[in-house]
Order: sequence, then structure tokens, then C-alpha cells
Amino acid sequence: MSVWLCAASVWYPRRRMALSVDIQRLVQTMPKIELHLHIEGSLEPEMVFALAAKNSIELPYASVDALRAAYEFADLQSFLDIYYAGTQVLCTESDFYDMTRAYLVRAAADNVVHTEIFFDPQSHTSRGVPMGTIIGGIRRALDDGKKEFGISSEMILCFLRHLSEEDAEQTLEAALPFKKHFIGVGLDSGERGNPPSKFERVFKKARDAGLRAVAHAAEEGPASYITEALDLLHVTRIDHGVRCTEDDNVVTRLVREQIPLTVCPLSNVKLRVFDTMRDHNIKALLDRGLCVTVNSDDPAYFGGYIGANFESMCDALPITRADLIKLGENAARASYADEARKAELLRLVQSI
Ligand code: HPA
Ligand code: ZN
Repeated sequence: MSVWLCAASVWYPRRRMALSVDIQRLVQTMPKIELHLHIEGSLEPEMVFALAAKNSIELPYASVDALRAAYEFADLQSFLDIYYAGTQVLCTESDFYDMTRAYLVRAAADNVVHTEIFFDPQSHTSRGVPMGTIIGGIRRALDDGKKEFGISSEMILCFLRHLSEEDAEQTLEAALPFKKHFIGVGLDSGERGNPPSKFERVFKKARDAGLRAVAHAAEEGPASYITEALDLLHVTRIDHGVRCTEDDNVVTRLVREQIPLTVCPLSNVKLRVFDTMRDHNIKALLDRGLCVTVNSDDPAYFGGYIGANFESMCDALPITRADLIKLGENAARASYADEARKAELLRLVQSI
């Protein structure tokens, strides 16, 4: 007797999809575009320990294995507690460089051709690390990554939504002298009780300064946070957004306006937004015409980089070759690369 699972309006058999050789090969070789990656979330436990030793910081874990063993999360907040503790080992420009460089090496191995990375300056400036140290180290690694791997990139400064809007405004002021290095602002951290409306003024200031705007919404929070992010923060992409299905009007709008969703499959399973990958709604969202993309979020914590996200998704859901091309086209169109690079990215993802 077969057991069936409901993923939004589509029904899939519960048995594991056999990943066809064709899809497997495509997933490995296709050029990838990453639009949702917290650079501090790429800090592997080995590097956490190495930087802690270098900077004489004591960690509450006895070993790399003990730290990795703690990566069992009940929800977003239980992850954020460990994630913010891990960011404390980043102190010097070379620490930010080394972290970013390590991510780019992994991204190159996954055939990433363009990446837009989030950074959380408030986690570092609150410990006395200067804004220029943070942005300078990340930017230098990205510039080297372009030369060495051909990976084009952008940076997006995220405000921590559990802190006040005044703190976000001070952070924006401190970052504006480095504006040529980042393309936009975002909103991350714990969603519950921290609606987009809390940050309306600082997002206006950022947009007035010529910056793009994105926000995490409807990862754990309600679908109405998507509407707030669009109408009050005037974002042009939604990070996660998978709970949009709780309100049909929100889904209809996302389809009509083709607002990109930067979906992170492994993250959503690890943080229990979905029980298993088979329950993930990404295929259903694609089939409903939403502009979805695949990304890794915090790969050091969630079990894999962008390639692993594609693999796990294709392993559990009936993703076709046409779906993979569509996901690539969506990411190229949703990217903040300049028009010439966007056209190039589109050609690359269509050539698979
Ligand atoms: N959600 C919200 N904030 C975050 C995340 C996330 O997945 N990762 C790092 N900051
Ligand atoms: Zn995220």
C-alpha cells in the first residue's frame, strides 16, 4: 500500500525519488548562482577553533566534534544562539578574508559563477571590530575570488531584526562611507515578534542612498511579513518566503509581480520549517509559477553548500531538467549583477 504525502496542492509518492544519472550529472556540472548566503554561516567548526586559538578566545566546546555535535536545532532561535557565538572569533581583517576565501573555494567546487553574500556587521561592531575591517576583509577576498575563480559577487549588509531600529540606523551610518563595496541592505535574525514594519525608516534611508533592499520573511514568521516587506520596506526579493502558501492572496501577488524567493532547502529542514525534504514545498512553488531560487543560507551549519542543496532537493522531489533550467534563469534574473553580467549569467544557465 503506498503512502502519499501532501506538498501544497501536489501529491508525491512517499518513496525516495531515484536521482537519475542525467539529473545527477546536471546538478554537479550546472553553473550556479547563489543569492542567499550568510558569510558568517560558512564558518566551519575547524575554522571557528583555529580563529579562537589565534585570537585567544575561549569556546564553550571541548573540540571541533563537540561543536559540530551541537548542530541539532529545534528552530531558528536555537540555531541563531550558536551561530552568533561562532561569529565572536572573527576579529581581524585577515579573519574576514580567510572565512570568505574558504567559502569561495567551496563555491568554485560547486561551479558557482555569481554569489551575493550577506554579512552581519552588528555581530562584530558590538565587540569593537571596526566596520572597515569587516567590509575590507570580505571585499578583498571577493576581489581575489573573481580573479582566481571567475566568480562575480555582491555584498548585502544585513540588519539584525532582534535589535532596535536605532541600532540599525547607526550601523547604516557607519557603513555608508564604504557604500561602493555593498549593493544593498537586508534583514535577518529572529523573525517572531520582529516584523518588517519595525525597520521602515532605516530601509528608506538605505534606499535613498541608492541601495537595494531584501528581507527575510515567512521563514518562521507569517505570510503577512512578505506583504509588509514589499509594501513598507520596498524590497525587491524575499529571503525564504516559503510560508507564503498560508495566504493565497500573497501567493497570487508573488506570481503576478514575479518577486524572487531565495529558498534554502537544507536550512528549512534543519530548522524544522519542514519535517523532511520530501515535505518541502519548493517544487510546488515552482509549479505554481513563483520565481524561486535555490541557495545554501548557512552551509557550515545546515549540512552542505549550494551543490548539496540541489542534490538533496532532487533526491527527494521530482525535479526535472526543465525545473533546473528555470531555477537558474530565475536566479540570473533576480541577481543584482549589472545588466551585462546578468545577460551572461542567463546564457550560462541556459546552456546546460
Ligand atoms: N534566518 C534568519 N537569520 C539568519 C539566518 C536565517 O536562516 N541565518 C543567519 N541569520
Ligand atoms: Zn538567511
